[in-house]
Amino acid sequence: MKCRTCGRPAVINMRQHKLALCADHYLDWFVRQTERTIRKYRMFTPEERILVAVSGGKDSLALWDVLLRLGYHADGLYIDLGIDAGLDYSHQSRSKAEAFAAAHPETRLIIVDIPATYGESIPQVAARTLRGRQRPCSVCGLVKRHEMNRVALEEGYDVLATGHNLDDEVAVLFGNTMQWKVGYLRRQGPVLPADAQGLARKVKPLCRFYERETAAYALLRGIDYIYDECPFSKGATSLRYKALLAQMEHRSPGAKLHFYIHFLKAREEGLFCPEEQTRPPMHPCERCGQPTTAPGLCAFCRLWVRKEEAGG
Ligand code: AMP
Ligand code: FES
Ligand code: ZN
Ligand code: ZN
Repeated sequence: MKCRTCGRPAVINMRQHKLALCADHYLDWFVRQTERTIRKYRMFTPEERILVAVSGGKDSLALWDVLLRLGYHADGLYIDLGIDAGLDYSHQSRSKAEAFAAAHPETRLIIVDIPATYGESIPQVAARTLRGRQRPCSVCGLVKRHEMNRVALEEGYDVLATGHNLDDEVAVLFGNTMQWKVGYLRRQGPVLPADAQGLARKVKPLCRFYERETAAYALLRGIDYIYDECPFSKGATSLRYKALLAQMEHRSPGAKLHFYIHFLKAREEGLFCPEEQTRPPMHPCERCGQPTTAPGLCAFCRLWVRKEEAGG
């Protein structure tokens, strides 16, 4: 297999694009495609300040790297979830994010340490609030979303960028479609606009790249990232969907990309009625001020109030 651009040996063959490229031309292609996605979905402009949520994994570090290469003003945010005791997951992923930041002194890495700030790690909050009934992922997602939004607003960033890739997006889309979760389907996409009531704009510039493409980018760029998934993700439904979708992709290359792109197109053409017509009015949380559907405290603040009431 030869590089389509220069004829040297290719390092990657993307069947869905019928495109094989050598290392140099692949890296160029990846950066250009990211820029195209940013423009196509009007994610942000060169003047805006971007906060990249970095988990220490390949996608978010690749994203940060590309944005810096494209000359954007992009800082990082790492949320230390305290998933350690015998697991060493947060500790390791944090050190990857810190090492990347140290190699790019022109940027800043903001770290939110959940156990140090709120007094409990994610497994501890989950054990207390869910009483072992479920894996901690729902609590973890809630805490991450809240903290990302809080830091983006408090630190004056225009937009929050996450490293979700096509495989992530398609697995979520598949799950939401299987259960016709219309509210989620309406909001799923490359850009979630800011909301006057206190939600920052959120964007996913890598949403059109397959996972193996972001991994190839990170490897070829020599980015040191954490290979392991979160220890609690094992057996998650989204992983089962991913396995199913991989079979479909194997049989017809491009199936995932088409599923995603045609969904976005159908939505643009009015598959769902606009959100304003169905979304309940939001109220500022009495404690943190972030928007919430029920008057009183938001779900994040309720997590900690129960702890305080118990005298913790
Ligand atoms: P996940 O929910 O683990 O699939 O991660 C999706 C995206 O959320 C990643 O690409 C990151 O942009 C962001 N993210 C996940 N975990 C963290 C974390 N601990 N700190 C900051 N950002 C994160
Ligand atoms: Fe939060 Fe796995 S990353 S529970
Ligand atoms: Zn080449
Ligand atoms: Zn709150």
